[in-house]
Amino acid sequence: MNCRATVSRSLPAALLPLAFVAMALLASLSAQETTTEPRPGVHFVPTMNSVVEVMLDMAEVTSEDVVYDLGSGDGRIVITAAQRYGARGVGVELDPELVERARANALEAGVADKVTFVQADLFTIDVSEATVVTMYLLASMHARMQPKLLRELAPGSRIVTHRFPMGEGEPDQKKRVSGRDVYLYRVPAGNAR
Ligand SMILES: C[S@@+](CC[C@H](N)C(=O)[O-])C[C@H]1O[C@@H](n2cnc3c(N)ncnc32)[C@H](O)[C@@H]1O
Repeated sequence: MNCRATVSRSLPAALLPLAFVAMALLASLSAQETTTEPRPGVHFVPTMNSVVEVMLDMAEVTSEDVVYDLGSGDGRIVITAAQRYGARGVGVELDPELVERARANALEAGVADKVTFVQADLFTIDVSEATVVTMYLLASMHARMQPKLLRELAPGSRIVTHRFPMGEGEPDQKKRVSGRDVYLYRVPAGNAR
């Protein structure tokens, strides 16, 4: 369809520029509607420091570990793992402002050489180098991650979830800390990845 011809026939000449601006706006809005940028499935709610410490203790984190926090917010879990245990850490976070904040927090904590924050959708990243994975997301997101984690993690890796269990199966350990539930799962010896 020739839009210019149609608009020119039905509108006074003085209104033509306005009509073209309106059409450009509509085109840009409809382009935005069709973008497929992932959005956080859950907003940033930090894990209390007392709970972070118990999560890392339950996973028995050491300096040999690589700790991945999926949905890392301000970076506190991997920063604490690096500070207290000398572990290497990777935080995966969709929100770019939180990624920047986590990087600044790591610098301030003196562990910027041990931790990395990547801006990415946690459902798409490869977690196979992790030996410990932590998650504080929605129950449905924990359940969705379960098969991917079991596919990619080596036997003996630990998964610690805050507030919601991981999905199917009993945890190896469960603790209640400061009114919050924490669940530990060990990837079984026979796990074929
Ligand atoms: C409840 S907060 C937990 C933050 C941090 N792990 C902690 O325990 O303090 C969940 C975080 O996951 C992030 N998030 C949600 N959906 C995500 C996705 N698909 N990929 C990456 N990050 C995501 C949110 O932006 C938010 O920062």
